[in-house]
Amino acid sequence: MFIRWKLRCDWKPLSSAGPASYPVIGCLVSFYKNRHRLLDWYTGMLSVSPTQTFVISRFGARRTIVTSNPRNVEYILKRNFSNYPKGKPFTETLEDFLGKGIFNVDGDLWYNQRKIVAHEFSAQSIRYYSENLLKEEVEKKLIPVLESAADNVDNMGVVDLQDLFRRLAFDLVCKVSLGFDPCCLDECSLEAPHPIMEAFDVASEVCAGRGAAPLSASWKVKRLFAIGSEKRLKEAMGRIHSFIADVIHDKKTKNSSGDDFLSKMVADGEEEGFMRDTIISFIMAGRDTTSAAMTWLFYLVSRHPDVEDRLVREVEFIKKDKELSKYETLKELKLLKACISESMRLFPPVAWDSKHAIADDLLPDGTQIRTGDRVTYFPYGMGRMASLWGEDRLDFKPERWISETEGGRVQALKNISPYIYPVFQAGPRACPGREMAFVQMKYVVASIVTRFRIRPTSMVPPVFVPLLTAHMAGGFNVFVCRRH
Ligand code: HEM
Repeated sequence: MFIRWKLRCDWKPLSSAGPASYPVIGCLVSFYKNRHRLLDWYTGMLSVSPTQTFVISRFGARRTIVTSNPRNVEYILKRNFSNYPKGKPFTETLEDFLGKGIFNVDGDLWYNQRKIVAHEFSAQSIRYYSENLLKEEVEKKLIPVLESAADNVDNMGVVDLQDLFRRLAFDLVCKVSLGFDPCCLDECSLEAPHPIMEAFDVASEVCAGRGAAPLSASWKVKRLFAIGSEKRLKEAMGRIHSFIADVIHDKKTKNSSGDDFLSKMVADGEEEGFMRDTIISFIMAGRDTTSAAMTWLFYLVSRHPDVEDRLVREVEFIKKDKELSKYETLKELKLLKACISESMRLFPPVAWDSKHAIADDLLPDGTQIRTGDRVTYFPYGMGRMASLWGEDRLDFKPERWISETEGGRVQALKNISPYIYPVFQAGPRACPGREMAFVQMKYVVASIVTRFRIRPTSMVPPVFVPLLTAHMAGGFNVFVCRRH
């Protein structure tokens, strides 16, 4: 048995790149040493791999193939999609949090929810979202908060922009999915973390910790005895479940019909556990992704005042005779879209994502896959590959995305393959919220840049933390000044 396991471990990596690996323990030592800088460690190994792929085997964890090769990415996400589901090791890690929600299921369960969720992202829904919910949240809440900050001489206009964006995104996703406003961005709520937002934070942090644990048995033991982080997770889930149960109960008893996702599911007679899990996945998907993307965008733009000036000019020009919150108007903000895309290339909200092979296979670059292997595609590393983006890959250059400019205005953007830039994933499981996310980010950023100048309070480069979704370590404290 031991010899068979040892042979399967195959301590010599198939790709010539990858960490030094030894019999039995595999690369456990180097993995442990690099556990706090996995993103850069992986990126470094990928950039010297001739195939842009490497293999990691370590004691206590399954064999993992990490790739930034677009042909491999296309293969696992589309061409041989059915062989690469999320798989039990993934779903088991997140089950206490996401249950059987779309994020955490495969096969028919996934396919059925995907069809239901798709309705929420029709052009009509996005139009309603942008002209009503989004506009109201930005104009009535976000902008007044920034105005008060700018006028507050006592703290020199300092706010944590990441915190504001997270509150904004949470309010919005709750309005879309539950038809309920948790009011996280109301001025009176800003002092303290909102209990439900906090419960989501705890759940996603503990589950990300489970996924990153050097030995997966460790969290299972803690769960068994309900101790430490697992105790916190249990409490957080209790709060989330009762919050959603209350909203469902309210909808059922008041027989209220609304445009939100939950009202539609209640009207369709969906089962309560199904609605709860679907909503949790939806909230999870929509809350931290856009806020992370906008936080990094403001950081990068503050470092590139020339880009900032051009952005302000683009927005001013377009909103001269058009209503900014209209879906059609937002489509015209092409330089802004290029900036957002470029910022997410360097700081993708979902830094990596893994699938688990159902059967033995061979990737297009020749890497052998065995049943049960974890196959990770890696947007963060892909955004930093010279082979994909050139030697200036670490520079923030929105020009990379622009194909046509006329009279100083961006007219058209390049179509970059989602397998080179899988920031929204790609193939059948590609993010269905992509368009809604762009609408949100464009409207929020456009509304801010034309009114305020945002500058970080610190010159120290911020740290990118990849939990389930990424964020900036310690928040993003900025000075807010009105533009005159
Ligand atoms: C910048 C913003 C966003 C980015 C970068 C992003 C990225 C992604 C990625 C990488 C996935 C695949 C994750 C996985 O399978 O584990 C995904 C899935 C998903 N996203 Fe997004 N997302 C964004 C915004 C949104 C928003 C605003 C919503 C909804 C309000 C949303 C809804 C979803 C849903 C429902 C899924 C699950 C799709 C499935 O499994 O079939 N996303 N997103």
